[in-house]
Amino acid sequence: MSIDRFPHSAKEERFEFEPGARAELDRIIEKYPVKRSALVPALTLAQRQNGFISSAVMQHVAGIFEISPMEVWGVVTFYSMLKTHPIGEYHFQVCNNLSCALMGADPLLRGLEARLGIKAGQTREDGKFSIEKVECLGACGGAPCLQVNEDYFEWATPGMLEEIVSALEKGEYVPPIGADEVAPPGAGAVAAADGGGESGRSGDEGRG
Ligand code: FES
Repeated sequence: MSIDRFPHSAKEERFEFEPGARAELDRIIEKYPVKRSALVPALTLAQRQNGFISSAVMQHVAGIFEISPMEVWGVVTFYSMLKTHPIGEYHFQVCNNLSCALMGADPLLRGLEARLGIKAGQTREDGKFSIEKVECLGACGGAPCLQVNEDYFEWATPGMLEEIVSALEKGEYVPPIGADEVAPPGAGAVAAADGGGESGRSGDEGRG
């Protein structure tokens, strides 16, 4: 069955799990009484290997779970953490919902766009960074929240961005900052000082 009509699959490629990833998937599948329950972990593994969920990924995963690619597509489009287009090596997600908007998400996003030289929805030419405005990340108590790949940075401020981006540019690990941390002095002040509640439109999809 072909699903070439999906817009992100114009350039089809082959995909199959690398041996290590396939072994990990088999271990995950064994944990569930119903094989299909491991579909999201399977797609997460596939995304980690391929960078995003392509048509070839969906067809390969569908074969493993003995379901149709369309059923896989339905799951892929439901979960925002599953990407249907290439993203940067480091994918920045800035929450745009109420708590974060009130606490400074807008200046945070503007600062990130300025530092990386791309707009939300874009990937930098070198493929290193991409930015996305997202709905609630479930960390409202640490607003504004920034997610980089799988790590959260709560109480994020524009001032933190230089340290984070500079370290990532050098390939260094940046430890996440979670809600269990004590709110840094001045957290929330950004919103008041910079009109954090105002809304801003992001740029178009595509490479910057
Ligand atoms: S509103 Fe931003 S994490 Fe919930």
